[in-house]
Amino acid sequence: MSSKPTLHSRFPTPPASGNIVWHHATVVRARREAQNGHRGAIIWFTGLSGSGKSTLAHAVEESLHQSGCRTFVLDGDNVRHGLCGDLGFSAKDRQENIRRIGEMAKLFMEAGVIVLTAFISPYRADRERVRGTVEHGDFLEVYCDAPIEICETRDIKGLYKKARAGEIAEFTGISSPYEAPEFPELTVNTGTTGLDDCVQQVISEMMRRGIVSATEFCGENSK
Ligand code: ADX
Repeated sequence: MSSKPTLHSRFPTPPASGNIVWHHATVVRARREAQNGHRGAIIWFTGLSGSGKSTLAHAVEESLHQSGCRTFVLDGDNVRHGLCGDLGFSAKDRQENIRRIGEMAKLFMEAGVIVLTAFISPYRADRERVRGTVEHGDFLEVYCDAPIEICETRDIKGLYKKARAGEIAEFTGISSPYEAPEFPELTVNTGTTGLDDCVQQVISEMMRRGIVSATEFCGENSK
């Protein structure tokens, strides 16, 4: 059985100063969750560029939102405009990118929100590090499994073409590795399965794990 994470294990990057003391809130996660009527959780979408992570995360969010859930999507390209605007695509920068996103996602979860993250997050160790900082059941890894040939054919942003032409260095799947999850909570074949089906698979998994309940999807949203 996994033990409850300690303050230390929840925050693997300790404060730079020794004079920092944790302040305990009175409005704790459980109270926020009770008010929201559902658990907070991190739904972590990983996969190649063009595999459909963002599309799926936003479509799942739409469905959850319509059902009255509190949600937020953290998206790779968007977060790199602000919080992670100083980071590139070296292994070290990607590691820092995922560390920051992981910390951000935890804050959202503590706020009782279902946070959906859409980052390539190509390194297994970086994803596992985030998983290790939350309690068992809080982190649901969704592998958006689409073969690179399909992602490259889609090439929505024209980046694969540029990467093949040598105009982008360290491009995931071409000149930089992607380590597929070994034991994701869910694998969705985003290369071949329609969007509605993919959404249903994610929502079903969330229900199965008690993040949302079936009653939330009754009525209009149960179709
Ligand atoms: S991650 O590897 O650090 O997780 P992240 O998800 O934030 O990556 O950003 C990926 C997005 O940045 C891609 O969807 C693509 O639009 C863009 N991008 C630009 N350069 C690269 C690159 N070298 N490798 C992968 N994606 C890149």
